[in-house]
Amino acid sequence: MNQKPQHAGPGVLVIFGVGGDLAKRLLFPALYNLFQEGLLPEQFAVVGFGRTDVSEEQLREQMRRNLREASGELSADTAAIEWIVSRLSFVRSDFTNPAGYEQLAAKLREIDQARATGGNYLFYLATAPEFFLDVVQHLGQVGLLGQENGQWRRVVVEKPFGHDLESARQLNRDLTRVAEEEQIYRIDHYLGKETVLNILVLRFANGIFEPIWNRRYIDHVQITVAETLGVETRGGYYDHTGALRDMVPNHLLQVLALTAMEPPSAFSATALRGEQVKVLAAVPPLGARDCGMCTVRAQYGAGNEGGSPVPGYREERRVAPDSRTETYVAMKLAVDNWRWVGVPFYLRTGKRLPIRKTEVVIEFRKAPLALFRGASSTLPQANRLVISIQPEESISLEFQAKVPGTEVTVKPVAMRFCNRDFFGYKNRTGYETLLFDAMIGDASLFKRGDMIENSWSIIDPVLKAWAQGAGDLHFYAAGTDGPEAAHELLRRDGHQWRALA
Ligand SMILES: NC(=O)c1ccc[n+]([C@@H]2O[C@H](COP(=O)([O-])OP(=O)(O)OC[C@H]3O[C@@H](n4cnc5c(N)ncnc54)[C@H](OP(=O)(O)O)[C@@H]3O)[C@@H](O)[C@H]2O)c1
Repeated sequence: MNQKPQHAGPGVLVIFGVGGDLAKRLLFPALYNLFQEGLLPEQFAVVGFGRTDVSEEQLREQMRRNLREASGELSADTAAIEWIVSRLSFVRSDFTNPAGYEQLAAKLREIDQARATGGNYLFYLATAPEFFLDVVQHLGQVGLLGQENGQWRRVVVEKPFGHDLESARQLNRDLTRVAEEEQIYRIDHYLGKETVLNILVLRFANGIFEPIWNRRYIDHVQITVAETLGVETRGGYYDHTGALRDMVPNHLLQVLALTAMEPPSAFSATALRGEQVKVLAAVPPLGARDCGMCTVRAQYGAGNEGGSPVPGYREERRVAPDSRTETYVAMKLAVDNWRWVGVPFYLRTGKRLPIRKTEVVIEFRKAPLALFRGASSTLPQANRLVISIQPEESISLEFQAKVPGTEVTVKPVAMRFCNRDFFGYKNRTGYETLLFDAMIGDASLFKRGDMIENSWSIIDPVLKAWAQGAGDLHFYAAGTDGPEAAHELLRRDGHQWRALA
C-alpha cells in the first residue's frame, strides 16, 4: 500500500450502471482527478454498460457536460475531459440480457487491440444490489473473469452487501463460486475519505498515541454519523432498510474497526484486513435482553431544518404512514479483548439531525485528583481527541488551560489540525484512491468477505430482537439532536454525547 506505482498499468474500466447517480457524480469526476494527477496510463479506456437509451456519441456528450459541471465550468480542464471522453464507449443492454455480455466481450477485444489495454479489466458494479450476482455470473459465463497469461480481472461491488448475516453469507458464497475472493473488491466509500485513513496514520505513525490507546487511559469512545437530510427520494428503499442496516454494518463498524484494531505487522492488505477481522470478532453480539438496554431506535417527526419546516418521516414520499422504520440508532458496544475490555464504544447515526457531521471522539479518563475543582468555570472536563471525518477533516485535542490573570481559572481549550488549512484544498470525490487501488490491485481499503460477515454478526441479533419487539421505537423532532433515550443511554454510564454543534 505504501509503495504504489507512479500510475496504473494498462486496463479497461467497465462501469455497470453508467447512466446512474454514482457514475455521474462520483466515478467520472474521480477519473478526471486521477488523470490530472497523472495516475492513469495512456493504455486506458472506459466502457459504460446500461440500458439508458442513448447512442455512444450522446453518452460522450452527456459525460462531457457532466464533467464540465462537476469541475466548475470556468476552471474545467478541457484536455482532461476530452482525454476521458475520447476513451469512453458504450454497451447498451439490460443487466439481465446474456447478449449484452457477448457484446461487451467483443467490445473489450476491440479496445485491447486499439489501445493495448492488455486484457486487464476492472468491472465496477454501480448497480442496485439485486444485480450484483447476475452481472458477475454473466461475466463468468462469457469468460471475462478468467485471468490467464498475467491478465487481471477484478470486480468492484458497491454497498449494500447483503441485508442481514445470512444474505451476506449467501452473496459471498455465490460470488466466490464465479470469481476468486482476490478478484472481489467490496467497497465502503468511507475508506476513501482522507481522515478515515488518517486514523491509521495518527495511531501508527506517531509514538505518543499508541501507548495510551487502551483501557488504562481511554474512558470511552463515541462514533457519530449525523445527517441533516431526510430520506429525500429514497423513501421506498429506506423504509425497508432503516438506519441500522443502512449505516452501521458498513460505515460505523468500519470506523470502529480502524479505531480499535491492533497495529498490523505491515501496511499490506492481508495484515490490515486481518486485524480488522479480529477486532470485529471481539465485539460480543448483543443478546435479546441487552438489545433493550444497549440500543435505541427512533424516527423523526415533523420539525425544522435550517429554519424551514420539514415533514415527519411518516409523511415522506413512499413511506408507509404507520412505518416503524428507524431513522436514528444509538448503541453501546464492547470490544472484549485485552486492550479494550470495559471501554464502551457508543455509536449513533441519524437523519434530520441539526448538523451534518461524522466524527470519532476518544474520551480519556479524567485526572485522578480534582485539584482545580474551584478554579474552573465549568466542572473540569476529560481530555478528548476528536477526529472529524466530514464535512470538516480535522483532528483536535481538547485539554484544560489556565486563563491568564492573577486568579487560577481553568478552561477547556483545543489544539487543532485541519487538513484543508495545512495541506490546502483539493476537490476530491473520495473515490480517487479507491479506483486507483482497484486498478493497481491493492485491496487494503476494500472489505474481505469475512469482514462483512463479522459486521453483520454484530448487527443481526439486534435486527432480530427489534423484530420481536425489544426496545421501544422513540421519536424526535426533525432538526433536534435525537431522542431523549439516546442521551439516557450515556447518562446511565455517567457520560454525555459530544454536542452536535
Ligand atoms: N449514488 C451514490 O451517491 C452512491 C453512493 C454510495 C453507494 N452507492 C451504491 O451504488 C449503486 C448505484 O447507485 P446509484 O445511485 O448510481 O443508482 P442509480 O442512480 O439508480 O443508477 C443505477 C443505474 O443502473 C441502471 N439500471 C437499473 N436497472 C438496470 C437494468 N436492469 N439493466 C441495465 N441498467 C439498469 C439505471 O438505469 P435507468 O436510469 O434506466 O434506471 C441507472 O443508470 C447502488 O448499489 C448504491 O447503493 C451509490
